[in-house]
Amino acid sequence: MEAISPIKQIWGTAAPILRLRRTPSGYGLHQRWYRGLGNASTAMNETRDMAVKARPPPLNIKRQSCTPEFYEAISRICQLRRKYMEKRTVFVDGEEMVPILKALGARDEDFPRLQAVNNSLVGDPTLPFRKSRNGRFCFDWDTKSVRRLEFQPFALSVGEDFKRHDSDTVRVFDEVDNDLQLNTAFQALMVFKGLMFHGMTVKERPKLDYHSNKWVCTLFALRTVTTPEMLGEPALEGVHTDGVDHTMTTYLRSTNMTPDSAVTFLHDVKEKTGIRLQETAPEMIRARAQHRHFLDTLLIVDNERKHSISPVYAVNASREATRDMLIFFTRKPVTGDHISAGIDSLNPHREMGLEFPAMSLSDE
Ligand SMILES: [Fe+2]
Repeated sequence: MEAISPIKQIWGTAAPILRLRRTPSGYGLHQRWYRGLGNASTAMNETRDMAVKARPPPLNIKRQSCTPEFYEAISRICQLRRKYMEKRTVFVDGEEMVPILKALGARDEDFPRLQAVNNSLVGDPTLPFRKSRNGRFCFDWDTKSVRRLEFQPFALSVGEDFKRHDSDTVRVFDEVDNDLQLNTAFQALMVFKGLMFHGMTVKERPKLDYHSNKWVCTLFALRTVTTPEMLGEPALEGVHTDGVDHTMTTYLRSTNMTPDSAVTFLHDVKEKTGIRLQETAPEMIRARAQHRHFLDTLLIVDNERKHSISPVYAVNASREATRDMLIFFTRKPVTGDHISAGIDSLNPHREMGLEFPAMSLSDE
């Protein structure tokens, strides 16, 4: 049996959502509660951080601009971005992502490390067939940088087209650590996403601040596990959206997984939320994509397409099958009585602070 992390032991894995509204006088009770949780996390991370005092410098895209490879990569990203704007989704093969990420500054040695990074995942707060961690980052176009944000719990609601047994509850995930955030291939993925989405007009979601020059990116590192007793579902919720503006999904690797597993279907936004793929209307399927190779990456304008994903099936049914992914949710900061009001801080992370330059292809 897997040990439960100290954070989850103290605070539980998921709690019914209370009225998570920001009080006019500052932090409300629940917010102080969660900040306390961040402090508990801090103490546990201090020891680990001592080991990375001599950390290598983070990715710096400004230093890349003197190479021909950089301009080739920017030219290709412009083409991908145009396709993304036209189709509202784009799939980029992993073998094409590698030279792009290297041109943005990713170091060779960080690619195999990134592929194996999900070995450090722990039990998910609500799903028995999943291991997970998450972390929050800010795309800040005032400072033209990406910054690690402090710990906050996570929530998705039925109102955001996410219908599952744990909708409308606050979930506490263990945090992603320096092994992921200091990896320059990961940092280049963040810079790539910023280049792809910033300045693009999307159908706006209610209760998000579209006047802000900042975006909140919640990064999930996920391993879906199928065992002889349990089917791993990358999207148990069926047809859904992620409650954000731009979703990006990047494949790391799988073990013992059949070739027909984990296919992503994009549905018209009018398709019914929460139904299984077999129940969907074929004429409402807009696209199909399948991550097969390291760094295969899919972007979706999340409020304009719904999506569903088929299960992870095992080649050898007597053994475990796994699928490792990185999921980048990006949306504007919340306003008013959004379900995540009060758990959407833009404060930097105090113990795992990280900031590196970003770049935009937009005039905004
Ligand atoms: Fe999703």
